[in-house]
Amino acid sequence: MKSKIKKSKKTITFFRPWLSKEDKKQIMISLNSSTLTDGPKLYEFEKAFAKFSGAKFAIAVSNATSALHLSIKSLGIGQGDEVIVPDMTFVATANAVMLSGATPVFADVEKDSMNISIKSVEKMITNKTKAVIPVHFAGRACNMKEIITLTKKHHLKIVEDCAHAIGAKIDGKHVGNFGSAGCFSFYPTKNITTIEGGMIITNSKKIAENVTSLRNHGLTKTLMQRYSHGKPWDYDIIQPGYNYRLDEIRSTLGISQLKRIKKINEIRKKIYEYYNKKLENIEGIITPKSSKKDDHAYHLYILRINNKNKINRDKLFSKLGKIGIQTTVHYKPLHKFSPFKKIKKDKLKNSEELYQEILSLPFYPNISIKEQDGVINNIIKILK
Ligand SMILES: Cc1ncc(COP(=O)(O)O)c(C=O)c1O
Repeated sequence: MKSKIKKSKKTITFFRPWLSKEDKKQIMISLNSSTLTDGPKLYEFEKAFAKFSGAKFAIAVSNATSALHLSIKSLGIGQGDEVIVPDMTFVATANAVMLSGATPVFADVEKDSMNISIKSVEKMITNKTKAVIPVHFAGRACNMKEIITLTKKHHLKIVEDCAHAIGAKIDGKHVGNFGSAGCFSFYPTKNITTIEGGMIITNSKKIAENVTSLRNHGLTKTLMQRYSHGKPWDYDIIQPGYNYRLDEIRSTLGISQLKRIKKINEIRKKIYEYYNKKLENIEGIITPKSSKKDDHAYHLYILRINNKNKINRDKLFSKLGKIGIQTTVHYKPLHKFSPFKKIKKDKLKNSEELYQEILSLPFYPNISIKEQDGVINNIIKILK
């Protein structure tokens, strides 16, 4: 007998922010401080993030796009250079390369992990290639061992896009520490948020100093240094920079959220595994792989709908939407965007195929079991 699919009473949104009482209290305190940007909370957040990630330096910026932009720029990469990025990522990864004056080149991804394919990267290397940006997609760490071997062989730099992967480690080492720099995002949907915000981690003093100056107009002095002693107006500009600063309110929120990251990621893992347990044997669905190690930050839960003759991804998306369950697609492959159509690319077969199949489900620490069951049961009903 066919069971009826009912519209849920309340929409199950794709995303729901989680700001605690303590987060809000800390924000209100920081609103009353005399320094609202470039002040002590920024440095406290950076110190806490460096400790958490095990990096020597952490430099907070306005978002992960600016983090990627400054990291690439600080490596001296620019016009005439090529940087290899995965075709399956958010456009910011490629935009940051273009903002630096260099050209992104698109490599295919692996079908199961959705991470950059090392074989594809190897095919795309030319004498113009200067760096590779692996994206730890959906929170799952890339195979950094193989990426390091390949990039060493060709004398290439690595900038890790860790926007999805706060908390993911490989053999105990936090992602972001495997190349020249690692870039994190604190956009509202990310595992922790500063609303907008980003962080660069690096173990190079030279890069740290360079990006610290570049985020603040290229100035040689911070606001605190300018007002502490000497002549506050007497600073220099090393190179033209940007205003990519993170203000005190966002830094305060970052400090407060970072304290909960372990708990947040544990809850995300439970929700992820519950989806897997309930959906893995359903015909027409390929669930994402679980991980027994701590190399996953469980940022996105992405199903593949491989139900060739019946309900495809688009139909499932639309039917779920009609009953109040929001889902989405991460991502439309880069080579499909107008500005990137002429960019050099590998065959991108996997990313093309994935794009037809992938569907991201509502996935956040404050989703209730009832809501999760609602998502699961409706998917099963629709596919049947
Ligand atoms: C893989 C990836 N890289 C970079 C970014 C850019 O992050 P932000 O919005 O903080 O600039 C995002 C944002 O969603 C992302 O998913």
